[in-house]
Amino acid sequence: MPIPERLKPSFAPARVAEFDPIEEARKRLIVALDVPAAPTALDLVNRLEHTCQWFKVGMELFTAAGPAAIELLVARGHSVFLDLKFHDIPNTVAGAVRSAASLGVRMMTIHAGGGPAMLEAAQNALAGLADPPQLLAVTVLTSMDRSQTSAVGLDRTPAEQVELLARMGLEAGIRGFVCSSQEVSTLRALTGPEGVLVVPGIRAAGAHTHNAAGDQKRIATPADALRSGASYLVVGRPITQATDPAEAAEAILAEMAQAL
Ligand code: C5P
Repeated sequence: MPIPERLKPSFAPARVAEFDPIEEARKRLIVALDVPAAPTALDLVNRLEHTCQWFKVGMELFTAAGPAAIELLVARGHSVFLDLKFHDIPNTVAGAVRSAASLGVRMMTIHAGGGPAMLEAAQNALAGLADPPQLLAVTVLTSMDRSQTSAVGLDRTPAEQVELLARMGLEAGIRGFVCSSQEVSTLRALTGPEGVLVVPGIRAAGAHTHNAAGDQKRIATPADALRSGASYLVVGRPITQATDPAEAAEAILAEMAQAL
């Protein structure tokens, strides 16, 4: 019996979407809008509109401008990372996570130090949403060195504490973490490929010679952070304080593209 036409194998070459490393980099760069008021944020967004897709709204801008800052970004089609690092009793954090999700943010942070019950409550608050935002647990703040962790009664090194909290987070069902470039390969090994690892403290390769680290203690270049396993990079001052923010963002995208 002859093979029906529809079952015959096709030898036409499969159409493969062309990989554009700059477009891929654009999906992974998050600009931190660490500014004190909505008009300043709006000015930056206007300048970066065609260069960057993701913006991070943290405590400074959110405390000054409230949900309006997020609504403005969402209305313009941007992806918003709300970085308020929730840390409270499980019921309160669950409510805050629900409120943030209803604003349309695509990522948000909670403190892993809130413990397994708080992490589970945060995770459960998103259950049932058709397209939930990514929860990210912050392990140990990058501003905490050994002296700071001992001052709050921890007898582990920051690296040991990061690993303990990441394992606890994974057990509570959390798949996303914020970490420094120094911890990203350890966390990548723990989470496997599905982990979402967001890395701040990024400085362009050329910037190292100009002492541009600011207050960041542990910095990495965009390419190094991606090669170590970062999913997303957070960049603030190197873009927002540049004379031409869009040009600075393009230079970072080009560095990222080398590693993709
Ligand atoms: O200006 P800069 O590139 O250093 O900004 C980094 C951003 O990432 C800031 O918004 C900062 O709050 C945030 N961040 C960080 N370290 C963490 C968590 C968040 O630098 N551990």
